[in-house]
Formats: sequence, C-alpha cells, structure tokens
Amino acid sequence: MKLQKFTDTEKRQLKKIAMENVLVHWASNEDLAKEPKIFTAGEGCYVYDIHGNKYLDSFSSLITSIFGHGRDEMKQAIMEQMDKIAFFPNYHDSFTIPQIKLAEKLAEIMPGDLDVSFFVSSGSEANETALKMARQYHWANGEPHRYKVIARRYSYHGTTLGATSYTGFSALRQCVEPLLPGALFTHPVSCHDCELGLDPSNCNMTCLKMLEKMIVWENPETISAMIMDPIPGSNFGYPIPPDGYLQGVRDICDKYGILLIFDEVQTGFGKTGKWFACENWDVTPDMMSVSKALTAGYLPLSVTMTTKKIASVFNKEPGSEFRSGGTYGGHPLSCAVALATIEIMEKEKVVEQAAETGAYLKAELEKLYKYKIVGDIRGMGMIWAIELMADRETRTKLDPSLNVGTFIRDWCWDNGMILRNNGNSLVAAPALVMTREEVDIMVGKINESISAAMKHFHFD
Ligand SMILES: Cc1ncc(COP(=O)(O)O)c(C=O)c1O
Repeated sequence: MKLQKFTDTEKRQLKKIAMENVLVHWASNEDLAKEPKIFTAGEGCYVYDIHGNKYLDSFSSLITSIFGHGRDEMKQAIMEQMDKIAFFPNYHDSFTIPQIKLAEKLAEIMPGDLDVSFFVSSGSEANETALKMARQYHWANGEPHRYKVIARRYSYHGTTLGATSYTGFSALRQCVEPLLPGALFTHPVSCHDCELGLDPSNCNMTCLKMLEKMIVWENPETISAMIMDPIPGSNFGYPIPPDGYLQGVRDICDKYGILLIFDEVQTGFGKTGKWFACENWDVTPDMMSVSKALTAGYLPLSVTMTTKKIASVFNKEPGSEFRSGGTYGGHPLSCAVALATIEIMEKEKVVEQAAETGAYLKAELEKLYKYKIVGDIRGMGMIWAIELMADRETRTKLDPSLNVGTFIRDWCWDNGMILRNNGNSLVAAPALVMTREEVDIMVGKINESISAAMKHFHFD
C-alpha cells in the first residue's frame, strides 16, 4: 500500500473542488460543513484519509469490502483480463469469457434453480431489472394487466425511479413523487417493534394474513411481483424474520401467481454466515438481485438471477426477447473480479469464517447490554445493528433531537474507526475476514463511545 502525502495547499484545493464540483451521493450538508473526508488508501480492514489518519472500517466500505482492501488476487484478475480484452458488451448476441464463466459459477452457488444471470452494474439496476422481467414475463404469458408490485415499508431497494417506487422510506419518495403506479406496501417484519402492535409470541404471523387480504382486495390478477429483502438492511436495523415468515410469503405468492423477488444486494455472499440470507430459512425466490460483495467492492457489478423456467419465456422466438439492457452490464473486468471473489470465498472458506467470527461478534456485542441505553442488538453473521433506547426495560425511545447516535459515530471517527449510524441505530457490518483481534478493537471502540455518550448526556 502506498500512502500519498499532500501539502496543506493541495489538501485545501482538493477539499474546495470536492465541495464545489461534486454532488456527493446521499450528502449530509451538516457533516460536509464540518469537513469533507477524502480517502487515499486502504489495507485490510483499515482505510487512510488525506491527512494520513488510519481508520478501522466497521462498515466495510458500504458493506462491500468483504476481504478488506489491497488483495493482490483482485488486482491480478483485473490485469489478466485487461491483457485479453478490457471491454466488450454482453449485448445482442455477444458474450465475453468472464461473463460466461461467472454465469456458470453463479448457477452453481445460487440456491434452488436460480440458474440464469442478467448482468447489470448496480443493486438498483438489478432490482429494476427483476421488476421489469416480472412484468414482461406476465405480459408474454398473456397477463399484461399484472402490473402492480408489493414491497414492504422500510425496505430499501435502490435509487433509480423504479427502485425508489418500491422503496419503503417516505423521505426518499416524497421529493420525487408521483412515482410509478401500482406500488403496494405491506408491513415490515420487525417483531421487536411490530407495526400492528402485536406480541410475536402469539401473533400467529398476522402480517401474513394482512398481506393475503391486501392481495385479494387488490385482485391478485393485477399483481406481478413481490420484492423483499429477506433481512431488511442497515438503515432499518437488520430485523430478523421469524421462522416460517419467508415460507409464508413464498406460499402466498405461489397461490396467486405472483413472482417473488429477493433483494440480496446487501445480505448476499456470506454476510449472514450462509452464501445467501434466504438459505437460513431454505426459501428460494423466483428472482434474486445481488451486488455489493459480489465483487468484494473492487469493481461495480450486479446480477438479476432467475430460473430457466422464467428465462425460457424470453428465448422462444424472435420478438420474445427480454427488452432491457445496459452498455456496461456484465463488464468483463467486473466479471473477472467476481470470479476471483468467489474463488477466494471458496478457497478460504469465507462463508464458514463469517459464521464463526459472526458468533464471536454477537457474543461480544451482547456484552454492551451492560449499558441501559443499549436497547436491542439485532443481526446475523457479520451484519449487526445496535438500537439505542432511553430505557431498555420500558423500551422508551431516545429523544432523536439529542443525536446520541451521531455523537457516538463522531466519537468513533475521532478515535480511528468508521461507524455508520442511522439516527440512534449503530451498525457493525465489517469485512467477513475481520480477525477476532480486530473484532475486539471494533467492539472496544463501540463500548468506549457508548460510555462517552453516557457521560456526555448524563445518562448514568
Ligand atoms: C438491500 C439493497 N438493495 C438495493 C440497494 C441499491 O444498490 P446500489 O446502491 O448498488 O444501487 C442497496 C444499497 O445499499 C441495498 O442495501
């Protein structure tokens, strides 16, 4: 790893350009006003900023860098493919070798009969593609009136207009409404804070009954697909569904001819201690979107996986083709990197490692219950959320205006660790290869930061 040095003038200039010439994704004007953060190097689970400060990354570069930074194999995979052909589109009737090999490998590792790949570049596009594929599938089968899509409140499916239409966060929707027609929202499954106010020990999964009622009321023949993340993401604090829920959704979708799409953009590739989150409950969808860890963060790539049964509708005769695509979808360099990612995962048993380190991480995080403001600790494998509360016993929420989560995040940044917070929910979702020593450092810093918050806000 090379650590570049910058003069004060260069730093000032870079920051000025960043502020004036870049609209950063999901910007926080409040944080930008303090100072834009510029990263220049990475090694393992650590990254370095323009001042040479070193940070342990507990959010694995937006939950992508499952091996951390600086793996030679990835560099090598890119260089080897560069020497052959850097780019040719997966378009019309053309393929490159890495696309074909990756499709073969994905068919092998995907659950059930998800054997067919459609390559795009981002998680949003993979979801958007799945939704278009569902629509065209029904259209081809003589059911063009199946246009509605069921999604869940508080699930995030991406940033494109289509993906935003089925994303259950009102703050992301309201500034671009009206969105696509036919988006139907059902309950999130967050049993710790049930929307229906029910007790999970005796609710008989009323949320599933409500889902079915909605489908019947809407007329099932108007619904094309249901999109859901088996475990909702970091911004909803990883609520784990109760056993039987995913199977319940699967059964309802089958009953009414609705295609089931699992968005595993965040949870796929080992994060939960299985290759894919849905394998924790042995439920397979009709389509699955994957991205992020697919290339371990080294290059952009995403895939909409589907079954041969669904894909067969699109290769029947001229005119039946799936009418979608993008120039860089399935970029050969990205496919080569994805193949290298899967090879490392298999060779180094990264999924098993994630399950083992995840169990250790869970046990270490649970020690934080010693603080009364640690309300819930939820997650699985290597993706965890810590929800802060005013009082765990009474489950009283913290006053959001106190910004306790942000205080903790800032404390961690000031003390050499990147921590993601969503309000009063803290996230620990590090690289899958994080060592136990690094887990100790990470949890140690979360511990110290909560302790600092207890003092700062006089919670003791
Ligand atoms: C569950 C889920 N779906 C979709 C997306 C969108 O992926 P991308 O940002 O690559 O478009 C994300 C991104 O965070 C995600 O977590």
